[in-house]
Amino acid sequence: MKSFTILTATLLLPSLLLAHGNEVHTDKKKETVKPKKVVVQEVKRNIYEPINQSYLKNIKPIFENKCFNCHSNTPNYPLYYKIPGVKQLIDHDIKEAKSHINMSNNFPFISHDTPINDLKSIRKSTINNTMPPLRYVIAHWDSRLDDVEKEQIIKWVDESLKKLEE
Ligand code: HEC
Repeated sequence: MKSFTILTATLLLPSLLLAHGNEVHTDKKKETVKPKKVVVQEVKRNIYEPINQSYLKNIKPIFENKCFNCHSNTPNYPLYYKIPGVKQLIDHDIKEAKSHINMSNNFPFISHDTPINDLKSIRKSTINNTMPPLRYVIAHWDSRLDDVEKEQIIKWVDESLKKLEE
């Protein structure tokens, strides 16, 4: 009798653990046979949507002013763009900037990295004052982020990371 109990416990334990490990609960039993990939994408879209809403409202206006010249498909070229040699330098930087992060399609950004790493990278460049690059600030094409803008960006990044990492 004793060994029977142990045997039952041993057999039941893994299935109990599995039942708890499986966090995807759906109302309809049928939906659990959906391919896993679809479920994951659905979940991610639900997470990205509120982050993008807050981006559109609070952050995009800042980025349009101070980042889109390099990190989007719609740059406003400076007057000195026409100076021989300058065009090549600027074109190269825009290409380079967009290969890191292209903000044209809103959040999540078109990027070679994950949205989480993009956010961390934006926080870093904001805190360290490295974006826009100094040479452009000096050449008066783009200007630095002011303290209020920096605060807003950090707040959005931290709130978004919390949502993505929980
Ligand atoms: C005048 C062009 C220009 C502007 C304006 C600009 N960037 Fe960049 N950005 C670049 C270039 C070039 C790179 C890639 C090379 C580098 O890291 O310096 C880059 C890279 C980055 C990276 C990736 C850095 C890394 O280490 O991977 C982030 C994040 C970034 N920019 C954020 C921003 C934000 C936010 C703004 C606006 C506040 C901005 N940039 C404005 C040119 C620009």
